[in-house]
Amino acid sequence: MNENEKCKKIYITTPIYYVNDVPHIGHAYTTIIADSLARYSRLAGMEVFFLTGTDEHGQKIEQAAKARGKSPQEYATEISNRFKQLWDDFEISYDKFIRTTDPDHIKGVQKAFEIMVEKGDIYKDVYRGHYCVSCETFFTDTQLIDEEFCPECGRSTTMVEEESYFFRLSKYQDKLLEWYESRPDCILPKAKRNEVINFVKSGLNDLSITRTSFDWGIKLPESMHDPKHVIYVWLDALMNYITALGYGTDEKLMDYWPAKVHLIGKDILRFHAIYWPAFLMSLDLELPHHVAAHGWWTRNGEKMSKSKGNVVDPKEIADAYGLENFRYFMLREVPFGQDGDFSQRALIDRINSDLGNDLGNLLNRIIGMSGKYFDFHIESDDVAKYHEEELLEVKAILSNVEPFLYEIQTNRYLEELWKTLRIANKAIDKAMPWVKMKEGKEDEAMATIALVANILAKVSVLLHPVMPKTTQTIASALGFEVNNDSYYRLIKEEELLGKFTIEKVPPLFPRIEEPLVETPGQKAEAKSKSELKAKEEKNSASREKSDKTAENGDNLITIDRFFEVKLKVGSVMEAQEVPKSKKLLKLQVDLGEEKPRQIVAGIKEWYAPEDLIGTQVCVVANLKPAKLMGMLSEGMLLAAKDDEGLCLIRPEKPKKPGTPIG
Ligand code: ME8
Ligand code: MG
Repeated sequence: MNENEKCKKIYITTPIYYVNDVPHIGHAYTTIIADSLARYSRLAGMEVFFLTGTDEHGQKIEQAAKARGKSPQEYATEISNRFKQLWDDFEISYDKFIRTTDPDHIKGVQKAFEIMVEKGDIYKDVYRGHYCVSCETFFTDTQLIDEEFCPECGRSTTMVEEESYFFRLSKYQDKLLEWYESRPDCILPKAKRNEVINFVKSGLNDLSITRTSFDWGIKLPESMHDPKHVIYVWLDALMNYITALGYGTDEKLMDYWPAKVHLIGKDILRFHAIYWPAFLMSLDLELPHHVAAHGWWTRNGEKMSKSKGNVVDPKEIADAYGLENFRYFMLREVPFGQDGDFSQRALIDRINSDLGNDLGNLLNRIIGMSGKYFDFHIESDDVAKYHEEELLEVKAILSNVEPFLYEIQTNRYLEELWKTLRIANKAIDKAMPWVKMKEGKEDEAMATIALVANILAKVSVLLHPVMPKTTQTIASALGFEVNNDSYYRLIKEEELLGKFTIEKVPPLFPRIEEPLVETPGQKAEAKSKSELKAKEEKNSASREKSDKTAENGDNLITIDRFFEVKLKVGSVMEAQEVPKSKKLLKLQVDLGEEKPRQIVAGIKEWYAPEDLIGTQVCVVANLKPAKLMGMLSEGMLLAAKDDEGLCLIRPEKPKKPGTPIG
């Protein structure tokens, strides 16, 4: 065994997820990649520390909690537990689940802040600029769209002018450029590195790293004697990667630092490829080996997000199709860094074709033949004699796959494994062991079956990190167990299995014909089909009726028409006057979605902004977004107006934001 590798420590992280949203397949994707990498590294004998967790501070969470009538801590715990539960259900092999509300994390962040102060990297000034709460990001005048809207998400930003501490990010511009230059693979996929370099070259401003206008965050260290500030949520969040190892408290795990890879989505690349290394330089800590940014999972080309109502629940999919099949699909389907459209069709195709036809059938073929011809007893002695060529091809492929994994090209990694399955299938077709048996060439038939069994054995070892249980089943059918020892024998030392007895297993990948889960789109579709008949009947009835009432001038509609309008209860989180407008107020209304909706309403004559905050309203939620005076409006409020003025229509009792009306 390679002792060097055996002792190697390796640290792998996922982003810590915001607790304003429930987990969807986008989150599952990042976590499953990280988990597979962690499992591979353990299999290869490394000491792994695999971190995941939740990001719980900041204005966005404070607002989301308030809208639900909960304390931020209570709300954060509730959602954090959902993430943890999902990862536990998915048997994610994390070594630590960090929460940014953990006392050790808080101490570690304060310690880091003090060190940055000592280093001369933090100074106090006044921040003037724009803040997007939804993205928890500051923007300068020139970055805004139409002088007001967030360049990232299009929402309204708020003008902030407050005392703030700043981090001297500008000081690190050149050092960052040196890092990107000297480490071509520090950002993965490599093409992303240029984007980052260009951004940094265009000039870095110092970064505002504290806020005074809300409370839900980590206070400055006592030594600063400045209790009104809380630390900027991104400084707080990024530090999780070192506080999880005990930074600033009990540092005994710090020898895992630097991280091998921070896995993230491309939305948060800037924070990880610019701010984070700059913070680390300030703390005199080493920089991570890789920051690896994957693309989006989309639905019909649109980014999956709760506010679009197009999220796919990973648990539902995994329960229906099998967790490991789902893992395989996620890692195989999209080239790393690119966006991928999620469809059950694509998932079904992967299961039936790659898993069923290529992998499952191959196992069935050798179970069948070994049973029929050799009573399941197989020897590998003559494999090299009859199949040297195939052995060499397989060896060439498998000895070069590992880098694909560490460069997060999981699709390439899996494609390579599948190449060897094709070699195996071809070898059977070519050698035709059933003919060899008839010709009395038992040695040759045995050699072919043994070749295939050996390829399957090697593939099950290398596929183990992606499909832990399925591969263990395959291995046990071939008389061994996937573990560090078999990894060394079969992969590193390139040994063959020797003598073994094959065992029957039930089919691993039963064929799937039709989608098994009703996703939101399909639910609507199915509903509309089953409702269609009822609708037609009702329509004809109401047509008769409307013919009669037409005389009254009353235009009747059917109930279905009414339900086309999606009405929902919303909570007003923010309300502002629109300068230069007599009529308009600009509101941020929580509809229980990922982000509050911005609604511009003509109600200024009747309502003062401060009287609206914290109240509930009824919102037309599926109105096409429109621009009013250059501002995006993503809904309409229900109101009644007569000679005496206008009043909003509200629920009689408070209801959860997002509750449907009708
Ligand atoms: O950004 N497709 O947390 P977050 C693929 N708290 N991946 C997706 C996705 C999609 N449609 N949607 C989300 C934060 N993700 C910060 C991170 S780290 C110090 C702080 C994944 O809850 C993707 O990895 O918004 C993305 O980076 C992460 O979820 C963001 O999760
Ligand atoms: Mg996000």
